[in-house]
Amino acid sequence: MSLKSLFRRKSLNAVLHTPPTDVAAHPGAVEEGLERNLTVRDLTSLGIAAIIGAGIFSTIGNASYEGGPAVSLLFVFTAIACAFSALCYAQFAATIPVSGSAYTYAYASFGELAAWIIGWALIMEYTVGNIVVAISWSDYFTGLLSGVGLDIPAWLTMGTQSAHKGYYEVLALLQAGKPLTAADPSQLLAYNTWLAAPDFLGGKLVIDLPAFVINALITTLVYIGIKESKNASNLLVILKMIVVLVVIAVGVFYVNPANWSPFAPNGIGGVLKGVSAVFFAYIGFDAISTTAEECKNPQRDLPRAMIYALIICTVLYVIITLVLTGMVPYKELAVGDPLAYVFTKVGVDWLAGVVAVSAIFAMASVLLVFQIGQPRIWMAMSRDGLLPPVFAKVHPRFRTPSFSTLVTGFFVGVPALLLNMDLVIDLTSIGTLFAFALVCGGILMIDPQGTSDARFKVPYLNGKFLVPLLLAVAGGMVMVYNRPAIDEFWSSVAGNGGYEEFRHQIPMLVFLISCVLLAWVSFRKNLSLLPVLGLLTNLYLMTQLGVNNWLLFTAWLLIGLAIYFGYSYKHSKLAIRKAVA
Ligand code: ALA
Repeated sequence: MSLKSLFRRKSLNAVLHTPPTDVAAHPGAVEEGLERNLTVRDLTSLGIAAIIGAGIFSTIGNASYEGGPAVSLLFVFTAIACAFSALCYAQFAATIPVSGSAYTYAYASFGELAAWIIGWALIMEYTVGNIVVAISWSDYFTGLLSGVGLDIPAWLTMGTQSAHKGYYEVLALLQAGKPLTAADPSQLLAYNTWLAAPDFLGGKLVIDLPAFVINALITTLVYIGIKESKNASNLLVILKMIVVLVVIAVGVFYVNPANWSPFAPNGIGGVLKGVSAVFFAYIGFDAISTTAEECKNPQRDLPRAMIYALIICTVLYVIITLVLTGMVPYKELAVGDPLAYVFTKVGVDWLAGVVAVSAIFAMASVLLVFQIGQPRIWMAMSRDGLLPPVFAKVHPRFRTPSFSTLVTGFFVGVPALLLNMDLVIDLTSIGTLFAFALVCGGILMIDPQGTSDARFKVPYLNGKFLVPLLLAVAGGMVMVYNRPAIDEFWSSVAGNGGYEEFRHQIPMLVFLISCVLLAWVSFRKNLSLLPVLGLLTNLYLMTQLGVNNWLLFTAWLLIGLAIYFGYSYKHSKLAIRKAVA
């Protein structure tokens, strides 16, 4: 194995002309490609379908609780980071209009190893992200059923991990001599659920069945066909847009501006606690790039659709956050269904019900888009030989990537039965931020000075002086406004708090080193400003997810590398072609 081979790159020409499926090399595959059906409207709609979901219907609640009304600013900041990434995605999508998303882009810019890593990271975004959405869907669904008097036993509506965790937390309280009332409601529910659950294999049977069932239904739909999926998605998007607009239009009348003060009750630290949840709310605009081969005019439509979807969602999110935090004091928002909750709180129960029903549809449409995206990434990886040929198998009648679709369904459905949501939210966000950072870096690799003749490219602004200047200004502002944080950081880095404190600063150290390096390279090479800012903002958001998530993510990447060196490296088409040549 040579070092050079790890960086073997697919030429743009090769990427554009990879045959849909090489029948000789892929026994069982058929030669037709996918069906070209999607227009800019469908794509924007798919983008919105992927973006508006569990984030705004659920996780925004905790973010607002931690950060207060100022979380609306975090939505703006995160949208800017996403916009830089969207521009880079859009340039790639215009240059390389084939399925596979960031994975394909990385193959053409960084080379094979990085492409594999990004493909592996995207599993976090698509598959692990869908586990979050399925669990969230189940929460709203069971809440609704019990609202109309249909109660499913609790042990069939909760992940094993959540019940197990809550049970032992309450047990610890009891053993410490505290009363049951000392537990919070969610712990108590988990405790009672665990006690009431039937015995199973020496433990307890507690599973989230609705999360599994909705995933099975969505997988079936995606398996049957893109056209059916598209129609379903367009319908669901219209429905959820109407509901979001009604929430805003009615909610505005219940806003009490006094609730906006203090604007940032827990300071910047409180606002930044919401990074994972807020970023999760934006994930999805990139998913439309996985359908490039099903677009009528991908080079024109994909960039437009990504930007349109992002703009529409940002405006809606910022307004919704202001409305929510204006309707009730932010402290009340630590609930799983904040959008419905605020209307119950101001006495508009009918609207609370409507919101709860539509949340179910909104989240189903997110599931749909990601369930469409993941198999197409695997299909692209398989076509390149990095995954076994069966992953590229296209169903002869439905013309969808059948095997990959079923595998995705399995890997979302089974963990959704078992896992706790918090862990999966963080993993989704860190994996996606990493992928976005690599996409921005990819543009810097293939088009550092914005000279490409792609039909869409990131507007070029020379970063020679601007990157160092902006970084110096940002650093200066932090010095002035958040001096204690800086002192604490350096003290930990100097080892004053021991290894435990030091390790929590590792992400920030990585970020600072990246800033210095990028400022230097920008100065030397006149790098394009916007992709540099995209890279840095994504990296900064990653630092806010904490070192433990970095470690988990690193472990995930190591598993991926083991598979790459065990299988993909040897089976890569590029390697085989080069060996033959
Ligand atoms: N942005 C998507 C959601 O919030 C993943 O559900």
